[in-house]
Amino acid sequence: MSLKLKKIDYTKYPLPRMRHHANPVLYFPLKQHKGNNFYYPPVFEKLEWNEIFSSGKPPDMLDIGCGLGRFLLETSLKNSDKNILGFEVRQTAVEWIKGVIEGEKLPNVQALWYSAVNGMSFIETGSIEKVFYFFPDPWVKKKQNKRRAFSAELLKEIHRVLKPEGNLYLMTDVPEVDEYQQSILNETGLFEFRYTEKDQWDLQVRSNHEIFCEDKGIPFIRMTCRKKQ
Ligand SMILES: C[S@@+](CC[C@H](N)C(=O)[O-])C[C@H]1O[C@@H](n2cnc3c(N)ncnc32)[C@H](O)[C@@H]1O
Repeated sequence: MSLKLKKIDYTKYPLPRMRHHANPVLYFPLKQHKGNNFYYPPVFEKLEWNEIFSSGKPPDMLDIGCGLGRFLLETSLKNSDKNILGFEVRQTAVEWIKGVIEGEKLPNVQALWYSAVNGMSFIETGSIEKVFYFFPDPWVKKKQNKRRAFSAELLKEIHRVLKPEGNLYLMTDVPEVDEYQQSILNETGLFEFRYTEKDQWDLQVRSNHEIFCEDKGIPFIRMTCRKKQ
């Protein structure tokens, strides 16, 4: 089935009022928390793909920190033969995206209320073509590094789930975040990475924050990270 001509009329889906950040506990792995009676997204060990995508197959692409999901939704339209899964820690954003998915009857996309710091054990090794990690929250202070989902552990997980020819795509408008991410990329040595100009960027869709930066003339970097064998 081709969804090529389909366009989403976002005016049908009024945006929710949202906080910029979620409760700080959500940025730390569940295993670091004591007790279990608090607000925290479910930590999945296994997902039933036939409950998530119409094809019943697992995802081909992952969007980590998908925010309000423009990139996630539009990428699903452009790739109707692929499944794309987004992770987002702000529950209100996930509910809004789910409303659009239901309203538009999109068969190949889903957003999970999930904190990526808990890893991705429910994603099969060597199964993913592309992982997107765009404009993570810009905590610039060193002491805030621990709040970032991007870590050596997550990078190892991304490396594990990617197919041999798979890519990780990064964007950020915060130089300190770029520096931090490169330090983790260097430390793990799992990817070959390079800055990528817009005309070499092989993605056809722009994310919410990418559009914001381009409209406001805010500089940002794009980086392509190729999985090393
Ligand atoms: C600045 S927004 C960018 C959203 C989107 N990627 C874009 O480019 O427009 C960063 C998003 O990452 C989400 N986020 C931060 N830490 C996360 C985590 N541990 N797990 C899942 N999402 C996270 C935030 O809630 C926020 O929506």
